[in-house]
Order: sequence, then C-alpha cells, then structure tokens
Amino acid sequence: MTRLRERSVTFAFPDDLAAGWHSTMPELACIANSVSLMMPYLEPYVVRATREALPHLDGELREDARRYIAQEAQHQAQHQRFNRLIAGQVRGIGVMEGMLRRTFGWLWRTRSERFHLAYAAAAEAGAYGVARWVERHHGELFRDADPTVARLYLWHLAEEVEHKNVAHDVYDARYGSRWPMAGAMLVSIAVFLVFAFVGTTLGLVHERRLLHPGSIARLCSWTFGFVFTELPNMLVSVLPGHHPSDFSDPTWFDLYLVGIEHQAAA
Ligand SMILES: [Fe+2]
Ligand SMILES: [Fe+2]
Repeated sequence: MTRLRERSVTFAFPDDLAAGWHSTMPELACIANSVSLMMPYLEPYVVRATREALPHLDGELREDARRYIAQEAQHQAQHQRFNRLIAGQVRGIGVMEGMLRRTFGWLWRTRSERFHLAYAAAAEAGAYGVARWVERHHGELFRDADPTVARLYLWHLAEEVEHKNVAHDVYDARYGSRWPMAGAMLVSIAVFLVFAFVGTTLGLVHERRLLHPGSIARLCSWTFGFVFTELPNMLVSVLPGHHPSDFSDPTWFDLYLVGIEHQAAA
C-alpha cells in the first residue's frame, strides 16, 4: 500500500505579512522567497509531465504518482498565495515571474517527455537534499521566523521527503537511462541557481541589505554548507543502481506531518 497521503492544508497568511518575515535573519526570507517564487512554475511542470505518464503506469506506482501529483498541486497553490504577498512588496518580482514562465514554457515546448520526467526526478533529488539540510538546521533557521511562513516551508519539505521516490520510479518505469537524468540534473541546477540568485538579490535590495556583511556571510555559509553536504548526494542520485530509498530519511519530518494531520483533524 502507498505511504503517500493527500493532505488538504491552507495557511492563513496575514494580509500585512512582511516580505522580510524573519526578524533576525532577513536574508533567509530573501533566499526562501526566491525558492517559493519558483514553485508555481516548476511544480506545474513536473505535475504535467507525471500526469501525461499516468496511462503508462500500473498498480501501486500509478497510485503513488496520482498522490504525488495531488501533493505538488497543493504545494504550488499554497506558495502562489504566499507569493502574491511578496510580489506586492518587492520590486522586480513580476519580471522574475515572467522569466520563470518563459523558461518552463520553453522547456515544455522544446524538450521531450523523457527530459520532462528526468527533470522531475532531478528536481525531487534537489528538494530532498534541501529538506535534509533544513532538517539539520531548522531550529536556528526558523526560530525567529513568522510562524505561518515557517509552517508553509516545513510542511512542503516534509512532503518532499515523503514522496522522494515517486518521480524517480516514474522515470525508471518509462525510460531508465541515466544519461538523460544526468543532463536534466545539470539543467535543473542551473535553472535553480539563476532564479535563486535573481530572487535573493531582489529581496536583499528590498531589505536594503545587498552589501550587508552579515547577510553576505550567512548566505555564503549556507550555500557552501549545502554544496559540501547535499550536492554530492544529488549527483549520486543520477548514477546507475542508485535509488532514492538508499538515503535514510530524517525522522523529524514524519513527526511534523503527524502534527499537521492532528491539527487538521482537531
Ligand atoms: Fe513540492
Ligand atoms: Fe516534490
């Protein structure tokens, strides 16, 4: 039986939520907002690719893929609501969203079904790496964050851990060759870096911290920490014989999802 669950979660963001929603580390809000802004473009792309593969899948994998689609659709819908509050405050976000729309539209029109599914698998390996990194640092990262925004990111990352296998299994069921997955991994990293840089820069300008030494130091420390601990795992993910289940999951996210389900049931 599939372990994936469909959870209906809505986050009540206050109308006056500040784009810099972290009281002690505004640069964390800047980089996290840049990731959130990508979601309404990246996630519909992987949803569309997986949905088109559904008729070719059987049994439990088909059910997993259906639930994976439902989770990703929920993620991007919640980020979309959050992003509107950010876009209303930070100059240049509309231009960045236009670039994202054109980038994922171009990928969809010009690449093959195999590339789309490989990109989904690569993006999931990246999301899983981010989840593992955040889990190790979540105390310091979110202690002074707006609690609703913290819940948005932690819920999203928890479900990324939960569905880490699905895109990989869908790709394997349809293709299996590792070279296209390696190519898609490089493209997905490049797209992520470009938009994380653009979004974070716009956020830092808004916060008047573009050249702030403390902000630059923390962003560099987070980036190098991630590159040394999680980037190798992402690259291993495209090697023959590797499966996402080879990585042991941080158990904290499981407990977090149980808490979310209890809150929803109360
Ligand atoms: Fe997601
Ligand atoms: Fe995902």
